Amino acid sequence: MKNEAELLKEEILRLKAEKGALIMAHYYQRDEIQEIADFIGDSLALARQAAGTDAPVIVMCGVHFMGETAKILCPDKTVLIPDPEAGCSLADSCDPGEFARFVAERPDHTVVSYVNTSAAVKAHTDIVVTSGNARRIIESLPADEKIIFGPDRNLGEYINSVTGRRMVLWDGACHVHDRFSLEGILEMKKAHPGAKVLVHPECRRPLQLIADKVGSTAALLDFARTDDAPEYIVVTESGILLEMRKKCPGKVFLPAPAADSECQCNQCEYMKLNTLEKLRDCLRDCVPAVEVDPEIAEKALRPIRRMLELSR
Ligand code: 13P
Ligand code: SF4
Repeated sequence: MKNEAELLKEEILRLKAEKGALIMAHYYQRDEIQEIADFIGDSLALARQAAGTDAPVIVMCGVHFMGETAKILCPDKTVLIPDPEAGCSLADSCDPGEFARFVAERPDHTVVSYVNTSAAVKAHTDIVVTSGNARRIIESLPADEKIIFGPDRNLGEYINSVTGRRMVLWDGACHVHDRFSLEGILEMKKAHPGAKVLVHPECRRPLQLIADKVGSTAALLDFARTDDAPEYIVVTESGILLEMRKKCPGKVFLPAPAADSECQCNQCEYMKLNTLEKLRDCLRDCVPAVEVDPEIAEKALRPIRRMLELSR
């Protein structure tokens, strides 16, 4: 007899085939969602995949801005998200009206925005970047170009430090990455002296400075795959551990502690809102579908396209 979870998975696969849907999932999704997805990746890979698919229906198992990006790239497709409440504290740290004023005060600056923003912020942007291509894209701009970078100040500081640029930074952050504990990680390093430290650039500068590798989720995964250390302390959302353990059998991956030991602070509660049940429901009912105001979508498409061209 099949158990409930197996029946649910079968139903999802049946509905997916019926609707011709492509299920995409970010590395921070619950394990069972990553396991059933057709494609898993970081923000850059998800945007690229959305731009290239011919499936009529995309289910974006991630957070809202990822669904919006897919919809902007594929306006004629149905883009579903299992839970419309799956937001992002980093995107929320950048109000479109305030950002527009910030930009208007610096008319001679090129505006570079992290993909973790609303479509309305992207509409005020010249080039969108992800953590996977930010450095390359900034380096491709003339050395004397004045740049506004938003909304993640930690990623902005990292890019400034590795490129020598002096981008003007918006003061935003991700509540998950911003609260990893330096002390906790130094303690872990003492207990695991052979472990290398993998840090996402949304983490604070002191954490970036003790890292053996700073990179997007895909870059950290790649580093672990090709590196020869037996153990890694992983300083990003713990959903990535599933793929790291799969891709690197025999290696040990230790989730880094957050500053507050009372909570599961290395988990993004927005990402975890998506469940298999909600995935089944959205495929079955074709809601909630992501919609973006056409005028905003048209303005936001240009900087997203520019990103895809610059990071080919
Ligand atoms: P990447 O997928 O680019 O590594 O970004 C991490 C993140 O916080 C996504 O919300
Ligand atoms: Fe946003 Fe942070 Fe969650 Fe990523 S981990 S979706 S940046 S809140």
